[in-house]
Amino acid sequence: MGEPGDRVSKAALAAGLVAARERTLALLGPLPDGELTRQVSPLMSPLVWDLAHIAWYEEMWLLRRLAGTPPVDPKLDDLYDAFRHPRAERRSLPLLEPERALTYAADVRERALGVLERVELDPADPLRADGFAFALVAQHEQQHVETMLQTLQLRAEPYPLGPPAPAGSPVDPAEVLVPAGAFVLGTDSEPWAYDNERAAHELELPAFWIDATPVTNLAYAAFVADGGYDEPAWWSPEGWKHRRQAGLEHPRFWRREGDGSWSRARFGHVEALPPDEPVLHVCFHEAEAFARFAGKRLPTEAEWERAASWDAAAGRKRRYPWGGDVPDGRANLGGRHLGPAAAGAYPSGSSPDGCRQLVGDVWEWTASEFRAYPGFAAFPYREYSEVFFDSGYRVLRGGSFATHPSVARATFRNWDIPIRSQIFAGFRCARDA
Ligand code: AVJ
Ligand code: FE
Repeated sequence: MGEPGDRVSKAALAAGLVAARERTLALLGPLPDGELTRQVSPLMSPLVWDLAHIAWYEEMWLLRRLAGTPPVDPKLDDLYDAFRHPRAERRSLPLLEPERALTYAADVRERALGVLERVELDPADPLRADGFAFALVAQHEQQHVETMLQTLQLRAEPYPLGPPAPAGSPVDPAEVLVPAGAFVLGTDSEPWAYDNERAAHELELPAFWIDATPVTNLAYAAFVADGGYDEPAWWSPEGWKHRRQAGLEHPRFWRREGDGSWSRARFGHVEALPPDEPVLHVCFHEAEAFARFAGKRLPTEAEWERAASWDAAAGRKRRYPWGGDVPDGRANLGGRHLGPAAAGAYPSGSSPDGCRQLVGDVWEWTASEFRAYPGFAAFPYREYSEVFFDSGYRVLRGGSFATHPSVARATFRNWDIPIRSQIFAGFRCARDA
């Protein structure tokens, strides 16, 4: 690398912050008064908590850590550090009122952009190299926009859906054979990757088959109709226990109509269940049970990443299944459409092997537990990844319609506990070759 800032321009870093804020404000714009402070579900924070937490995180990293600025208000640390109070309790804290949260966020942002102008992107300081801290803050805000969309999905009131996602068509062949071979899992070269995506390391994988598209509502409804929720043989012991305790009978947000057909609620709009869309709002156990019913299994995260990023001909990784081009028009990301596109959409987003929609539409549950890669080093803080390792979290890959492209690179790892289904998660199946 040559001069500091060579690889990354300050203008690009500022644009990343501005884009995230535009998205946050656009998301909150259509909501009537009172919706920001409401506890929609014990699973989620009041939206005004996410808003002020976004600002607090930015203050912490860009003003306090990077510029050495004293705290705006020391009381905010207890309110907005995500580790201090569980989501269900945040409603009863003395949170900033919506107007004050907005002012706080705008004030922090103005000063953070000033810091960006003045700071030297010193390659010797990992927080400054390639503007890492600025990208960290922008990615954090974009991730919380997806979190806030989960909250909006849990409301009964209709929220504007945006234009419909593009149509799909059946993909032939329906499964793709990935030959045995070595590939590289993780990254050392993405400047803004999270610590959990590092270190890049070579792995040898046996050949496997992987579905060309995510599993559809039609396929999943056949599992339900076949009595899949009443057959313990399809479920792991832990999955069956959860199935019974939670009384699961079908994916979250599905409803059986009087004529026997399925409808589903999407951001407060009740619609006939679209058969060719990827199934959405299933927990890990439901995904795993379907896969067993289908005579298959979930892919490991290594298999998923190999299918999504390994250019075997060139012997190197790609940022996205299609290569390095930006995802515009190649994947359903960024919340433009508040729902997945039908399976088989986005042919220009295909992997070289012919896998569709690995990135975008629905997060895909994998069989893998969330663990450190060899060579992992917590950076810049243990609470992003490290404290979640080896605790029964399962890895999800690929991003959903609600995920911003800046957090949808093929190496990005998401994780959640296996019973969660309010996240925008579906899956695809794999099997040994
Ligand atoms: C990576 C999506 C699991 O939301 O808990 C947000 C991202 N980390 N604020 C989460 C995150 C800190 C994280 N996930
Ligand atoms: Fe956060």
